Amino acid sequence: MQYLEIRGGKKLSGSVTISGAKNAALPVIAATILSDKPVTLTNLPDVVDIRTLLKLLTMLGGKVDHEGTVAHIDNGPISSHKAVYEIVSQMRASILVLGPLLTRFGECEVSLPGGCAIGQRPIDLHLKALEAMGAEIAIESGYVHAKAPHGLHGAKIIFDKITVGGTENVVMAAAMAKGTTTIINAAKEPEIVQLCEMIADAGVKIEGIGSNELTIEGTDGRPLAFKTVEIIPDRIEAGTYLCAGAITQSEITLEKVNAEHIRASIDKLESMGCSFDISENSITIHPAEVIKPVNLITIEYPGFPTDMQAQFMAVAALAEGESLIEERLFENRFMHVSELNRLGADIWLKGSVAAVKGVDQLHGADVMATDLRASSALVLAGLVADGVTNVRRIYHLDRGYDDLEGKLSALGADIVRKKDGK
Ligand code: EPZ
Repeated sequence: MQYLEIRGGKKLSGSVTISGAKNAALPVIAATILSDKPVTLTNLPDVVDIRTLLKLLTMLGGKVDHEGTVAHIDNGPISSHKAVYEIVSQMRASILVLGPLLTRFGECEVSLPGGCAIGQRPIDLHLKALEAMGAEIAIESGYVHAKAPHGLHGAKIIFDKITVGGTENVVMAAAMAKGTTTIINAAKEPEIVQLCEMIADAGVKIEGIGSNELTIEGTDGRPLAFKTVEIIPDRIEAGTYLCAGAITQSEITLEKVNAEHIRASIDKLESMGCSFDISENSITIHPAEVIKPVNLITIEYPGFPTDMQAQFMAVAALAEGESLIEERLFENRFMHVSELNRLGADIWLKGSVAAVKGVDQLHGADVMATDLRASSALVLAGLVADGVTNVRRIYHLDRGYDDLEGKLSALGADIVRKKDGK
């Protein structure tokens, strides 16, 4: 098994280029199913989740030519409509093929994703919305069997809860449905804006892009023809590097980043004593002399993202005073707490709230990554812990961070990937 060995205490300096956003690229890749013509995607991050979804397209019969940050995809030849357990169990976001497969082919089978380390993560809202659009859905032997023999039709969808994946699935399904679909209480993350713009650029009329209410006029079964899509910068990767600057009290610059997308993280780091120089594509963080405590609650965009909660907890672990961190999106997204405590943090957990009492110093230890963002929080803590921190189970990190150790090493961190027994 691979792990990261980090010798903490090094100051960082210089600049780091932010990769394309995993969570924007995944729905964009799924949306290519709406087309029977070739499409090119650029600025893809080099992470396992992207390769997994591209592999799923090839298993469906699509042709994928993927190298580096670019993929040429031709979903004209798709002949299978089944997303198998082997892939979906590796990556829940595979559920994003449900809407596009169903709306283009009138039928599909997608394995149920099951639970995950951060919570139950049901897909009931995706299914309810597709049923309202005319889909017949049955769950059998662990698979969602969906049928719409006469195509999907437009509907008024009111989401009980804001859901990123649910909104993406319905937007894609609505793009080729008959008539108009309105989504009320839609998610409005930048990745949803990118998906809507990609579909709108293909000639589908979409109103309300970037708002909580989307209206989509479907093509009534006509496949779309997409222009080349350049994936937007990864706001969570960017936020993670800002936290690296904050926790190591180093001045670093992020290149190819959109500051608007990470406003909530910047505001919180400002309240912790950091300051920023922001230009069109770059952000320089000037660290706090003394890290101040922070209170934060995770909510939907543009609020503070759940995907940054663990990283902020690592920074708060070294603040002068007590921070309160409340997780509202996922019921089990605190697995990093006990690992951070193994490194000497003083975090007390009650229900969905963590009280983080800042300590003067963290101490290196062996720790276990439990999910993608929890893993990056442990790496951040390792950057300042004295001695050696070994972060294990880093396959979680590889799912979503493009060359984390390479980028951190280039900034001056002492971090190497090792294999057990070597
Ligand atoms: C997306 O997951 C992201 N994944 C997650 O990032 C992110 O944490 C999450 O949005 C919230 O921002 C991708 O974009 C691939 P949701 P998603 O549907 O779409 C509940 C990362 O680390 N819900 O917005 O699965 C759900 O349980 C990952 O990169 C239902 O109850 O999240 C959760 O409590 C982790 N029923 C809340 O809604 C449903 O049918 C929000 O989930 C769907 C969701």
